[in-house]
Amino acid sequence: MKDDILKVLLTEEELQAKVKELGAQITEDYQDKKLLLVSVLKGSVVFMADLMRAIDTYCRIDFMNVSSYGSGTKTTGTVKIIKDLDIDIAGYDLLIVEDILDSGKTLSYIKKILMERKPNSIKICTLLDKPERRQVPDIKADYKGFIVPDEFVVGYGLDYAETYRNLPYLGVLKPEVYSK
Ligand code: PRP
Ligand code: MN
Ligand code: MG
Repeated sequence: MKDDILKVLLTEEELQAKVKELGAQITEDYQDKKLLLVSVLKGSVVFMADLMRAIDTYCRIDFMNVSSYGSGTKTTGTVKIIKDLDIDIAGYDLLIVEDILDSGKTLSYIKKILMERKPNSIKICTLLDKPERRQVPDIKADYKGFIVPDEFVVGYGLDYAETYRNLPYLGVLKPEVYSK
């Protein structure tokens, strides 16, 4: 598996340090709020698991699964709900937790449908932002870990064809892996 990685973009240590920073900021901002962390499956699970332990205030968690990428490297543009939230979000202060903001289609769709359910507030926390690929210009992250270049990144939850999510760092795939 490691032979498929061209280079390490963010090490485990860099990722952990940033997660701690984000967790501390969220802790401060959500002291007197009714925080609900919404993890978008599957890419955000690793980030979610680390981030929630870096947050030192009351919170609940829930999961949602929407998918648009299938097994390829490019977005199809169609977002569908595969698993909805279990919790009625009315009155909650939602923080949507994502691994990457790319075209913006996933997050703009999720934010739109969750807004309709009248939470108290709704914000976005993304570990990675790839602004060069944005197609929905008005979608912005309230909390952001790193800006990444337009390269195919995997690991720390992010996949190529459902693989490589378990790499503990963020790596760039060798082009021959996805061109064959
Ligand atoms: C990836 C990623 C984000 C989304 C970002 O998910 O985890 O959720 O794409 O892309 P966008 O900004 O262009 O919408 P994917 O649909 O591949 O599902 P996964 O999380 O299960 O890998
Ligand atoms: Mn995803
Ligand atoms: Mg994916």
